[in-house]
Amino acid sequence: METEIKEIEKGFFVEMGEVKSPVELERVRVKYLGRKGILDKLFSQLSRVEITQRPLLGKMLNELKERMAKEIKEKESALAAGRKTVGVDLTLPGIYFEIGRKHILTQTIEDILVIFENLGFVAVEGPEIENEYYNFTALNIPPEHPATEAFHTFYLELPRDSAFGRYLLRSQTSTVQVRVMEKIKPPLRIVSPGRVYRPDAVDASHSFMFHQIEGFAVDEKIRFSDLKGVLFSFAQRFFNKEIKMRFRPHFFPFTEPSVEADISCIICKGKGCRVCGRKGWLEILGAGMIHPWVFRSAGYPRYKYTGFAFGMGVERMTMLKYGIEDIRLFFENDLRFLRQF
Ligand code: DAH
Repeated sequence: METEIKEIEKGFFVEMGEVKSPVELERVRVKYLGRKGILDKLFSQLSRVEITQRPLLGKMLNELKERMAKEIKEKESALAAGRKTVGVDLTLPGIYFEIGRKHILTQTIEDILVIFENLGFVAVEGPEIENEYYNFTALNIPPEHPATEAFHTFYLELPRDSAFGRYLLRSQTSTVQVRVMEKIKPPLRIVSPGRVYRPDAVDASHSFMFHQIEGFAVDEKIRFSDLKGVLFSFAQRFFNKEIKMRFRPHFFPFTEPSVEADISCIICKGKGCRVCGRKGWLEILGAGMIHPWVFRSAGYPRYKYTGFAFGMGVERMTMLKYGIEDIRLFFENDLRFLRQF
């Protein structure tokens, strides 16, 4: 029996050397130390051994059992430790962090500002919470005039300022004109992007909040041809070189004369299609020569300066440039739309 025990021990260690997983380890453990395992069988054979030999063999078996148990335990922790390091599959792709991007409206604003900055304009921002003075009065718009209905929006419940009237969310970025002119003397060339608010019901082309970019230049002897040159140059850079441009007479209280500017339809190149309503032209902005009232609001000396101003809708420019048909897409945060830009 002594040799048999030694053979079994050898066999056990050989098998243990080949164990590579917890499942294999368990199989070996059951085979040797299990309820009906090899050692169990040997213990039960002790009773048939000669009585003088029993204590010695019993001791041998007990010691072997301990060695086996110890070996199994060590293997178990070795396998567990291995899982932690070797178990990391370095070939798996890493955790993917989505890199954000600028909203398409922000991209358009930046594109437009860069074009004007290259033409010598400086970008500034004005407040979205405005008062009636800068939103209306300073711009030659009597606040109670019925024509301002489309601009009466989002009045705030703040105490009315005696000099500046009620507070409201601005309805146009033209507010920036007098705010800037009060602070700096001509020559000046300014562009000002920002949000504006109007009491419009939301549909495919209207939103109660949208973005505008205002621009104006003031100096001695600025002429209407300067306005045309700047706007044509801008439109060519923003859309493309081939577009044509035209100016139609219009009315704005803060410019005289006033115009609306159209570009030839970028879809049909002026032939007439669904996008331009078969007209061949697309309206892109309002503009004009700054009204003397505005200079008076700014405190500029009479007749000293002339200037031009223009205002365009960022959503509209973006929709025309990229062929987007519904303004609501900009604000719904649907990533399938936003990821395209
Ligand atoms: N503020 C005008 C609007 O919201 C747009 C505009 C027209 C701005 C003519 C101007 C301008 O500076 O000269 O409809």
